[in-house]
Formats: sequence, C-alpha cells, structure tokens
Amino acid sequence: MYVRSFADGDGDGTGDLAGVRSRLPYLAELGVDALWFNPWYLSPMKDGGYDVADYRAIDPAFGTLAEAEKLIAEARETGIRTIVDIVPNHVSDQHPWFRAALAGGPERELFHFRPGSGPGGELPPNDWTSQFGGPAWTRLPDGDWYLHLFAPEQPDLNWAHPAVRQEHEDILRFWFERGVAGVRIDSAALLVKDPRLPDFVEGRDPHPYVDRDELHEVYRSWRRVADEYGGVFVGEVWLPDTERFTRYLRPDELHTAFNFSFLSCPWEARRLRRSIDDTLAEHAPVGAPATWVLCNHDVTRTVTRYGREDTGFDFATKAFGTPTDLALGTRRARAAALLSLALPGAVYVYQGEELGLPEADIPPYRIQDPMYFRSGGTDPGRDGCRVPLPWRADAPHAGFGGEPWLPQPAYWPAYAADLQAADPGSMLGLYREAIRLRPVFGDGPLTWLPTPEGVLAFTRAGGASCVVNLADTPVELPASSPPLLASGPLDERGRLPKDTAVWLRA
Ligand code: NOJ
Repeated sequence: MYVRSFADGDGDGTGDLAGVRSRLPYLAELGVDALWFNPWYLSPMKDGGYDVADYRAIDPAFGTLAEAEKLIAEARETGIRTIVDIVPNHVSDQHPWFRAALAGGPERELFHFRPGSGPGGELPPNDWTSQFGGPAWTRLPDGDWYLHLFAPEQPDLNWAHPAVRQEHEDILRFWFERGVAGVRIDSAALLVKDPRLPDFVEGRDPHPYVDRDELHEVYRSWRRVADEYGGVFVGEVWLPDTERFTRYLRPDELHTAFNFSFLSCPWEARRLRRSIDDTLAEHAPVGAPATWVLCNHDVTRTVTRYGREDTGFDFATKAFGTPTDLALGTRRARAAALLSLALPGAVYVYQGEELGLPEADIPPYRIQDPMYFRSGGTDPGRDGCRVPLPWRADAPHAGFGGEPWLPQPAYWPAYAADLQAADPGSMLGLYREAIRLRPVFGDGPLTWLPTPEGVLAFTRAGGASCVVNLADTPVELPASSPPLLASGPLDERGRLPKDTAVWLRA
C-alpha cells in the first residue's frame, strides 16, 4: 500500500494512516488478508519514503507511531495482517548516522566513503552507475566521495560493519513487537558490496554488488529474529537467474520473494506458461510458496501495459507517449486477474489495480520521482502509477481528500470505488468475487490441461479449473463444468473469446 496515495484523512492532499483506517472496511470487503505498507517512516521523501531518516518514527505527514500501532491492531481485528517495508541498502542523507558521517565522525565507516580517482581525485572511485541513472557516487566538499546505488539522498550502508547488521535486527524486533506479521525487504540482493569496490566488468562473476554470497548469512540471521515472532519475509529480489533467485528462499532464509518474471511477462500464452512453470519449479525444491504480482508502485499499471504493442515490462523501455488501447488492456487485465488468483501461492494486488486504474500521464512540471530527474527527463518515472485513488465519483478530488500531491487525470472519477462497488461487472466487482471464490481451487498443485495453441488451462486439487484464451479463435468450454466466474462475456455459442478467462466448477 502506497499510503501517500491511498486515502487522505486530514485533507492536506497526502494520504495518511487515518485514511487507511477509515478504509479498512473496504479492504476487508475486497477480501484482502494482509497489507504491505511501502515505507511509512520519517523521511524527506526524496524517493517516496525509500529514503528513511528514522525507522522508529512514522512520518508526520502520515501520522504517529501510536496511530500505526492502532492501525496494526484494528487491521488484525478485521483479519488483515500488516507487512512493513524495510530498506536495508541505504538510508536518507538526513539519517543521524549520515549526518554524523558528514560531520567527520566515526560513522563514516557505516557508509562507503572513498577518495576519488584520477588527478586530484576528481573522478568517482569506480564506474558504478546509479539505478536511477548517472554515477553512483557523489563528491563532498572535503573531496571524498560516497556511494549511492539510488539517489544521492540515499547513501548506501556498509554491510560489512557489525553495527549496520545489529541496527537492522533491532529494527526488525521493533516492528515485530508492535504486531507486524511480515517484512518486505527492499532491494534485497544489493546490500553487500565487494570490499575492493572494483569497476564493473560485464559478465564477471561475482558481481561487485548484486546477489553476493555474503548476503545469505545476513538473511539467515534475520530469519532467526523473525522465527522468534512467527514473522515472515518477502524479498524484493530481481534476479534473472532462477537458481540464484531461489537461494534466497531456502528454509532458513526468506519465506517468499516477489515474482518479477511474472510481472514483466508479455501477454503471450507460451511465455506466461513458461513463467508459471519456471516459478513453480523454482519454488518446489525449497518448499516456498510462489507469489504472483502484476504491478506495484514502481511499474506501469497493468491495464496500460497490456494495451500496448509491447505488453512486457522493462524499466529500460519506459518512454513518454507510448500509445495504448485501454479497452484492450482492461480486457486482458481482467483475464490476468483471474489467471493469477487461480494459481497456487500468494497474490499481491497493488492499490488501484482492483479499480483497473490506468497509468496516468503526469505533466512533467508536476513529476516528483527521482527516476525522471536522473534520466535527464527522458524516463517518465513512476509517478504515473502513484496517483491518489478515486473513492467517490461526485466528491472533490474524486473523494481522495484534499488537493492531491500528484494531479489526478480528469477522467479519474469514472473509476471511483463507489461507482464500481455498485456494479458487479466492474473491475472491483470482479476482484471481490474472484477473491471470495478463490478457495474453490484448494491449496494443492496445478495440473495443465491439453489446449489449442494460445490457450492456457489448468486444474487444481480443489477441483476448479481456469481457462484463459489468448488466441484469436474462441475456445469451446467443457459442457460438464459450468462457469463459475468469467472475466468477460462468453460468445453467443458459449465459447470463451480472445483475451478472456473463465473459472469452471469441478
Ligand atoms: C525498490 C522500491 O520499490 C523503489 O520504489 C525504490 O525507489 C528503490 N527500491 C530504492 O529504495
């Protein structure tokens, strides 16, 4: 949940914990059983809260620690568990450690400070680039440089230092003691750096800062903490190598990790099937549950992506003005919702996905995301998926609260939750019904059924089956299994049309 854009309880244009609390009934009715909160801690918001100044304080724009505790408890009473987001790779440049480091204290050792290279140290210590574009190093007036794999306001911590490890275990305990059930780990594969900080050489193994073996000891230690509280982890691990990916999911490490292969996969039957098979095969040996994610606060919203010529997701190809057919994208997103909710494992729904919100075009002068600025204005950044939600069609700012911190498109009220709640044919109606019916699939594995090219069909131990047609020709459905729920109308002969999914009763 991107609190800043969910619901604004105090009318200042920024979403807050009061807003979330007031919408718990909506979330319960949707059938949500856990909420992952993007960072809600004290932050200068240079990267939407992923620049944390104090892990033990709630940002005043969102509320107070007491209110967070109340929210965790109230959610729990509604059957909703809380997952907090921990950002161990970096802190804000306003964090007391970094301020002390800048003042020349021993805290420098908690970060990566280095003299520059070249004459007079005028060049960065190595050639690493920031994930947001530009060099990963910033020079200080005293001549030293510090490392930041993201924005300059997000200095990287030195995970070789025992105080960094100790502090994070204390932070985990702090939140577990407040009743959170889980922790999402930001940039989980980036923490540990090669101590020599060598230049990056394409293809050289191991990578100087991605997926280093030393990380596993960090997570084993975290796991011991989580086990004391019965807490679970979900790692943000973007790794193309599936064998390396699943190492994070070994029984004494993380419980789950986000499935970026599925999130990035184009809307093509063969590739989706391969992504599903690979995911299940990766998870089986370690006994970890799979996750299914179609979008989050970093990527293009699903209905927009699926309506484009290139239906995959890749940060590298994001551009202003990519044409999309929203009717087509919405049809596919509805089918994709039924597909993912029928698969074995956990499904993450990103706020507004259940409303079928498109990616919004933000006028460049209103963009706040550092990805846009660090790309020199060529990458539109991620604000288009972070626009404050429409709750009420007839209220100012579509019922979000005060004047939203990011502008809402003029058409936003048409997607309002109150309109959709009254319409079973809406995206919200589909999500509610699908989540309610989902237990018909049971907990068991998936068995693929024979299908024509371009069609995905599988059954689960619970007896129900799911058929998704991505081919041009409509498919016949077995007369013996009546449809339980469909993402769109069947044709006049009861066949499943293109870009449509159906759940069939046993
Ligand atoms: C991944 C988060 O999801 C993203 O929003 C953030 O910018 C980076 N990590 C850096 O913390």
